[in-house]
Amino acid sequence: MTPPDRAARPVALRHPTPSDGAAVWALVKACGSLDVNTPYAYLMACHNFADTCLVAEDGTDLAGMVLAYRQPSAPSTLFVWQVGVAPSHRGQGLAARMLDHLVTRITPAVSHVEATINPSNVPSQNLFRALACRFDAPLTEYTWLSADAFPDSHEAEDMFRVGPFQKKD
Ligand SMILES: CC(C)(COP(=O)(O)OP(=O)(O)OC[C@H]1O[C@@H](n2cnc3c(N)ncnc32)[C@H](O)[C@@H]1OP(=O)(O)O)[C@@H](O)C(=O)NCCC(=O)NCCS
Repeated sequence: MTPPDRAARPVALRHPTPSDGAAVWALVKACGSLDVNTPYAYLMACHNFADTCLVAEDGTDLAGMVLAYRQPSAPSTLFVWQVGVAPSHRGQGLAARMLDHLVTRITPAVSHVEATINPSNVPSQNLFRALACRFDAPLTEYTWLSADAFPDSHEAEDMFRVGPFQKKD
């Protein structure tokens, strides 16, 4: 039997399990411009924050992921720690689809999404600007951490806060 055409297979979204931790770490490394944290950090995210994280699967390969958690002091705010899409799957709306899924599907619903982004990361900035546009939600951008807050040569991190999202009837 001929295997299904790779391009014709839908990329499936699901919440991660701890067994995804190693593959998420490998995907973060493959993404190129993300900080690569320890494998432990990704195992912990997949374990402790699975309800607010997503992985995108193309067959048995991870094509993308969003690692996010509810702000402890404001649980309706979803803080997106890292979002990444494999180079082979970029420009096809996958990151937007994952963010939309989290905004529309997790319960209790989130009112805001926050992410911090380097000033040089235009694709990521546009990703969150586009999220605000799709939901017709306000977007606030401000400097969150300057470069000198970091002990290494890390860039500054600017806050992108989207919301509140309109409540559905
Ligand atoms: C940023 C990233 C997640 C986008 O993933 P993607 O699946 O290609 O993005 P999408 O196709 O869903 O695009 C959604 C929006 O993002 C913006 N965008 C995506 N790629 C872009 C690019 N190369 N240049 C400019 N804007 C871009 C666009 O506004 C786009 O909306 P549009 O198609 O309606 O114009 C991906 O490029 C990536 O993994 N980069 C490396 C990791 C990273 O920097 N993550 C963010 C920091 S945490």
